[in-house]
Amino acid sequence: MIDLSPLKANIIGRKKEIEILSLSSKAGVPILLEGDVGTGKTELAKQLAASLDRPFYRIDGNDSLNAIKITGWFDPALVLEKGFSMDTFVPGPLAGAMLNGGVFFFNEANRAPSESVNAVLSALDEGVIYVPRLGPIKAKEGFLPIFTINPREHIGTNPLPRAFYDRCAWINLDHQPLDDMIEIVKLRVPDVSDEIALFSCQLIKTTWDHPDIETGSSVRGAIQLAYLLTLRGMDDPEIISQVAESVITKKIVSSPSTEKEENILVKEVVKMVLNNG
Ligand SMILES: Nc1ncnc2c1ncn2[C@@H]1O[C@H](COP(=O)(O)OP(=O)(O)OP(=O)(O)O)[C@@H](O)[C@H]1O
Ligand SMILES: [Mg+2]
Repeated sequence: MIDLSPLKANIIGRKKEIEILSLSSKAGVPILLEGDVGTGKTELAKQLAASLDRPFYRIDGNDSLNAIKITGWFDPALVLEKGFSMDTFVPGPLAGAMLNGGVFFFNEANRAPSESVNAVLSALDEGVIYVPRLGPIKAKEGFLPIFTINPREHIGTNPLPRAFYDRCAWINLDHQPLDDMIEIVKLRVPDVSDEIALFSCQLIKTTWDHPDIETGSSVRGAIQLAYLLTLRGMDDPEIISQVAESVITKKIVSSPSTEKEENILVKEVVKMVLNNG
């Protein structure tokens, strides 16, 4: 029986998603988490691994990520001494997770070249990879692959093969509602007041709805803002505005239809939220 109480204690909301995560991990079906920045993809995967009491192996997709970095390589000095064998093989995150029944977390898989993603396909359904000069590595019970992709990222990404999608259960993560966001901020920021948690989350939510903002910030922005404001206090609107400008400006993107710079938009949003609060 899988005890998911630690996962539920550390993740606010996401009941439906946790249900699917739980079922997929029981069935050993690889999971694809799709969501914008700060939607909790990494946190969910880490908390799932912790709840399952399985080791966590992480790799991040980028254009120089090749199959060897994912699966593993041979130590050249040891190979001279002992030849090619399990003793001289250095497991990469995929082989490590397979050998130890762990969670293989492949972050931003669509930033990796397609060949590297192809290298993991046989692990997904057959639970085996073939390492040249070594032979097959079989997955121990508990091996669970989790991938993430961000649907909004188009620069520097590659389309994932159909065969990849065909092997995974897909979980879509939207930004969470205001009430959940407030609970997340309270969980992550020690000693945060109700006022600061509410202000920080309302500010982020306003960045989603503002007509001049194309891409808003995430709960990560709310957490950082709440942290800084908890240290500083909410007494001076000018300081609040400066803090928000530093924390949020680079996290948002203005709409092509406006001339306003992002920092001006943040100041506007701060005024809106303070006046409505
Ligand atoms: N549902 C949630 N419950 C508790 N904490 C959450 C939740 N969602 C997000 N968080 C917190 O929000 C922050 C951002 O989450 P996380 O880093 O997992 O996002 P991400 O989707 O992996 O973002 P990125 O795409 O930028 O890597 C973290 O501090 C995380 O702890
Ligand atoms: Mg992440």
